[in-house]
Amino acid sequence: MTRKILVSVAWPYANGPLHLGHIAGAYLTADIFARFNRLIGNDVLMVSGSDSHGTPVTVTADEEGITAREVFERSHATFLEAWQKLGISFDLFTHTDTENHWAVSQDIFLRNLTKGNIYKATEKQVYCETDARFLPDRYINGECPYCHFARARGDQCDNCGRVLDATELINPKCKLAKPSDPPHKLVVRESEHFYLDLGKFEKPLLDYLSDKDSYWKSNVVAFVRNWLQAGLHGRAITRDMDWGITLPIPGYDSKRIYVWFEAVIGYYSASIEWARNHGTPDKWKEWWVKDDNVRGYYFVGKDNIPFHTIIWPAMLLGYDENLPLPYDVPANEFLNLEGRKFSKSEHWAVWINDYLKSYDPDPLRYLLSANMPEFADTDFTWLEFVRRNNNELIANWGNLANRVLTFTYKNFDQCVPTPGELTDADRALIEKSEAAFASVGDALGRVRFKEAIGIAMDVAREGNQYLQIAEPWKTIKTDRTRAATSLYVALRVIDNLKTLFYPFLPFSSNDLHRQLGYDGDLLGEVKIETFQESTRSHTAAVYYPGQHSQKWEPSQLQPGQKLREPKALFKKLDEKIAEEEKAKLGKA
Ligand code: MF3
Ligand code: ZN
Repeated sequence: MTRKILVSVAWPYANGPLHLGHIAGAYLTADIFARFNRLIGNDVLMVSGSDSHGTPVTVTADEEGITAREVFERSHATFLEAWQKLGISFDLFTHTDTENHWAVSQDIFLRNLTKGNIYKATEKQVYCETDARFLPDRYINGECPYCHFARARGDQCDNCGRVLDATELINPKCKLAKPSDPPHKLVVRESEHFYLDLGKFEKPLLDYLSDKDSYWKSNVVAFVRNWLQAGLHGRAITRDMDWGITLPIPGYDSKRIYVWFEAVIGYYSASIEWARNHGTPDKWKEWWVKDDNVRGYYFVGKDNIPFHTIIWPAMLLGYDENLPLPYDVPANEFLNLEGRKFSKSEHWAVWINDYLKSYDPDPLRYLLSANMPEFADTDFTWLEFVRRNNNELIANWGNLANRVLTFTYKNFDQCVPTPGELTDADRALIEKSEAAFASVGDALGRVRFKEAIGIAMDVAREGNQYLQIAEPWKTIKTDRTRAATSLYVALRVIDNLKTLFYPFLPFSSNDLHRQLGYDGDLLGEVKIETFQESTRSHTAAVYYPGQHSQKWEPSQLQPGQKLREPKALFKKLDEKIAEEEKAKLGKA
């Protein structure tokens, strides 16, 4: 049965490059899932884009003295480069400042307003008389009214974790004030805003969530239940600022649609854009219809859970009840770095674009898969990266493939040898590698990534044990047929492992596929393209699958198949690297 799988991935704030925590949180899992689903024959549409608006972008712009657009365009370019080099196979990675996204967002806003799901209310907000503007939450610092931490943000206190209202801060200060400025004068003023009436959706949301306990991850379900128990209240979906999408009604020129309201709409608008870019303007609808064979998976970090399990479903329900709600939101927990939280301001981060300048994509994809923060936070250390590259990825998998291929290539005329009769042990190993398609596939279907890569690694380990016993490099001197047989068996197994590892390690699996003598391209290519709308153009990443000549099924490698020259799949890394890389952390 062919399914339509929408792989929706969190839209990263375009206020700087991404670090390994972002990759482990959402992007890698989404790519593994998309690649797997393509191999089993499902129709995948994987979309995301840069979250161009909002205060994270304007705060960075103000700090650097450049425009928000400059910050967003610069960041967008680093994202596109990362997807290309890391092989994150977005069918479309666009951004929220396209004409299409503006129009779709305004339409969803307007229809919810017309249907009475959005109401107007006046709220008290902090206004800076020096700057003559309302200050968004993140523009205000002050003392926390609860724990009296001196540098609480307008929306949250980083010390006690409480969510704050900026008007509550004791002694609030405007972050736009330069150190040399006299303090800016802050007052509380009333401002009219639009609110999404979440309370209206309590009942339909409970219905929607009623069957999710059975298959959603426990960390996600627990979060949603807590939120619902506290009761749903209206949420402001406009802000007083000038960077963002304008309201589709006259008289509100100084306001913009709140970034969170429009960013989640991106999943929908990007599907529409994708179809248009491909000259099939209606095709997106195949992923946006209520049908048991249509499933939307939303890969996001844990801080994004409420927006994808409550707010986005409510917006969809309010917009068009024929649209499907998220099927699953397999949010990951956080990745830490050398025992500490990633922090941009403290320079405690490994930026993905920097990583990719020095190292290959697959070793990172391996470590982050094997150590994925699926149910609890995990820690990235450079030493573990180096060690698991050498002692697991290479020792268990890369070397197995390379030894078998090199020895066969040299001794059997660069061809897959013709086996003699298979022993029970020979057959058992091949069968094991074949059975793994069901078990790894089952785990991936349930979005259990560590479990899936663990099963594949176990097969590789057994392949090594088999070779240690079979010793074709010895038997070749006395019994050439026996050597041919065990090499044939090992080749069958690495051919199967190539596919089993492919969703995680697409670059090396593609290399191995070629070395085994096959044509075609498993990896595909992420290209950066420019799309022209009526008044503007934008760049986006687009995945081209190439000629996939592999399905999610055991291979039937034929004796006599001509091999290509073997090459190591992975590079061994020196442990010194770990010390060097670690020493760079915490420095500007
Ligand atoms: N840019 C936000 C973040 O990085 C939101 C991402 S998900 C979205 O947390 F769908 F809302 F865009
Ligand atoms: Zn506090």
